[in-house]
Amino acid sequence: MTFQEVLEARKSVRRYIARPVEEEKVCAMLEAAALAPSWKNSQTARSYVVRGEMLQKVREALPPFNQRNSENAPVLIVSTFIKGRAGFLPTGEPNNELGDGWGAYDCGLHDMALLLKASELGLSTLVMGIRDAAMLRGILNIPAEEEVTSVIAVGYAEEDTPARPARMEAAARSKWFE
Ligand SMILES: Cc1cc2nc3c(=O)[nH]c(=O)nc-3n(C[C@H](O)[C@H](O)[C@H](O)COP(=O)(O)O)c2cc1C
Repeated sequence: MTFQEVLEARKSVRRYIARPVEEEKVCAMLEAAALAPSWKNSQTARSYVVRGEMLQKVREALPPFNQRNSENAPVLIVSTFIKGRAGFLPTGEPNNELGDGWGAYDCGLHDMALLLKASELGLSTLVMGIRDAAMLRGILNIPAEEEVTSVIAVGYAEEDTPARPARMEAAARSKWFE
């Protein structure tokens, strides 16, 4: 697949078939995510890979509509980032006004690489930002120094899932200067 094909193959899938995801594919996704850039290479994004019997517990931290959207997905990846590092000086002071926004930014870059690798491997994904972070923290023993971002469903899509929604034209979301 060309990079353009990988980009165009990715879309949010909300209907999965009950087919296991190969462990090596999950490992390849995590390796791809490691190649993402990060603030001073601080690499603060973390992934909690949930499979098997733990799935049901983690699903309970999703609202009913996201439980339905990720039904049958055999892997859920809970994303977090370590607070107070990306975007911060060694003194602990924020480098600029964005503060931990940089940690969230890096986590997004990290997870996008993960999503695109999944797409290349024939897998489908759904990023879910609507989740109960406190519940996830308890279930997965996520330390207080980490902020929970999303839960990412990973699996094989049903046939004929809805198309990716329309996008704004590049011209409508960019300004050029010379
Ligand atoms: C940060 C973030 C949070 C999201 N949260 C949810 C969610 O809780 N439930 C859901 O069904 N989709 C969620 N989505 C998926 C978006 O709705 C989807 O990416 C968007 O509509 C564009 O569609 P596409 O991913 O198919 O290109 C989320 C996406 C992102 C990036």
